Amino acid sequence: MKYPWNDYSRKLSPLKLMVFVALFLPASWTLVAFLTGNLGARPLNEAIHQQGLWTIRLILIALAINPLRSILQWQRLILVRRMVGVGAFAYVMLHFALYVADENFNPLTVASEIVLRIYLTIGFVALVGLAALAATSTDAMVRRLGRKWWALHRLIYLICLLGLIHYSMQSKLEQWEPTIADGIFVWLMLYRLAARKLAVRGRLPLPWIAGLGVTATVLTALGEAVYFLIAFAGRVTLTTALGTNFSLQLGVRPAVVVAAFSLIVLVAGVARIHLAPPPKGRPRYNAGRHWRWWCPALP
Ligand code: HEM
Repeated sequence: MKYPWNDYSRKLSPLKLMVFVALFLPASWTLVAFLTGNLGARPLNEAIHQQGLWTIRLILIALAINPLRSILQWQRLILVRRMVGVGAFAYVMLHFALYVADENFNPLTVASEIVLRIYLTIGFVALVGLAALAATSTDAMVRRLGRKWWALHRLIYLICLLGLIHYSMQSKLEQWEPTIADGIFVWLMLYRLAARKLAVRGRLPLPWIAGLGVTATVLTALGEAVYFLIAFAGRVTLTTALGTNFSLQLGVRPAVVVAAFSLIVLVAGVARIHLAPPPKGRPRYNAGRHWRWWCPALP
């Protein structure tokens, strides 16, 4: 019998078991808060928000697994990618089910709202996309679809983009967290572009990882500044909007959070090369310490 916490050789994988249990925690937390009356004045709406947030977070975590596996040279991380992706689908179904409950289970209202409200239409398209990916995520489907499976599963980039647009549109003026999610999505997409062109023996050298962190940070700052210019037309200039990133007057800005994320990944990559032994079975490459510093491809 194969359980979700088993690895390919059907042995218990502590990593898979931990992630499996962790995936239930956010929904359980919402359930307990709901049952104990701790979800505020509109509990159902708050529950919709929390499951929506976890959907987008899990999609971003699933997208981060491949880069982190390579940068940290932690091959077994791939074992949990499918689980996190299916978890994102479970959360979006919960998000949708709670929305249907909030509309008093009236199918006509639900259908007309999805057609008439553009942010719901976008969310619904993303949900259908995630359903297609979840339905084709079994080993049998991977074998049956062959190369087409990869083409289909690349849709996750578009689905994530639609999820982020839905998130930003419903957040109206409060764009702090959506902008952070956008910035991390930019980092993840830049990583894939760079890895395709610049990888050395399947790994992106650390200077490129530093460079893409800087690019994602600058793009996040520019994205937020453009939003400020549009939302507060005439009252804000580009310089003042960008200047907010260098003070704490408006709190920690999204670009600073994206910079911190990029730096943590970079430091983890450097530490992996210097502090941990090379992964089992990788040949020693006699390129000297200097290259080991810069290029995670060299063990
Ligand atoms: C992959 C698909 C989806 C993702 C990633 C997603 C994500 C999100 C996120 C992150 C939020 C905001 C949470 C917050 O600010 O605290 C949200 C809100 C919301 N979403 Fe979704 N969602 C998706 C699909 C859907 C679908 C299919 C529906 C319903 C048809 C839906 C209905 C809503 C509603 C009603 C809200 C709250 C809006 C408000 O209170 O003004 N979402 N969603």
